[in-house]
Amino acid sequence: MAGCMTTQPGRPWDSAQAAEYWRQGAARRAQTLALATERLLDAASLQPGMRVLDVAAGTGDQTLLAARRIGSSGSILATDISASMLAAAEQGFREAGLTNVTTLVSDASALELPEAHFDAAICRFGLMFVPDLHQALSRIHRALKPGARFAALVWAPRERNPWMGMQIDVLTEIGRPPAPGMSVLQALSLADPDKLARAFSAAGFVDTHTSTVTTPRIYESVAEAVDGMRTTSPVQAELLRQLSDAERQHYLASLEAHLKTFADASGRVVIPGEALLTTGARA
Ligand SMILES: C[S@@+](CC[C@H](N)C(=O)[O-])C[C@H]1O[C@@H](n2cnc3c(N)ncnc32)[C@H](O)[C@@H]1O
Repeated sequence: MAGCMTTQPGRPWDSAQAAEYWRQGAARRAQTLALATERLLDAASLQPGMRVLDVAAGTGDQTLLAARRIGSSGSILATDISASMLAAAEQGFREAGLTNVTTLVSDASALELPEAHFDAAICRFGLMFVPDLHQALSRIHRALKPGARFAALVWAPRERNPWMGMQIDVLTEIGRPPAPGMSVLQALSLADPDKLARAFSAAGFVDTHTSTVTTPRIYESVAEAVDGMRTTSPVQAELLRQLSDAERQHYLASLEAHLKTFADASGRVVIPGEALLTTGARA
């Protein structure tokens, strides 16, 4: 965990360890987020030959899927605040033989991009963490060609996402509720269905609307679910770091008890989830 110790509160994505956690979760995300990601790419109207902006691209899961849609005649700029996440993404792009994806390390609210340059933009589960949302949306809007669409996925409210809700509940139960600014809370910060659409409009987007999409998590056992949480989530690592050894044991035992309530008779765990998909176009 040495790499993690250097991360700032609310910035659990910066370290190489965080990128490694996130990379390890790629197969799980591919399953949980398959439908949501297809909808995201549909909503941005990705077509062969397009020039696409991917904001808060992380280790590039959705970038790879977008690259398939735009083909070799298109190109993608994958941006993220974390150099470690983008380094892992670049490795994935190389392994996939992609030569038309470039990367840029940048806070989304400080993106310096040419005006009216991109045919589409996407952001999968990144906007909730951006401190100056209006700046980020305004800069994305400016970088799009007239008529080009931006599509973004964010998490729906806590009650629709027990995976995150139970982490907050258990921390509260053991007397260590997450401090304001911690990523588990930030992850839900755009859960009001109107909030992001309003922010899109304020940044100049037109034809803005929001829909919901399911994101179920399926595990073969409670142990697999706990292990998945511990080994694939920088957000979870941030939570665990603030606890003493005794508190951590207590937390994980309580989490296991919560997860058991989602297990069927065979022990298989299905945790429902829901995302909001907001889209808009540059006028
Ligand atoms: C939940 S991950 C999503 C990554 C990827 N889009 C995916 O769906 O797999 C959130 C990402 O947002 C990035 N991020 C956090 N704050 C950011 C900011 N202010 N500007 C740009 N990216 C940011 C993190 O580094 C991380 O890669």
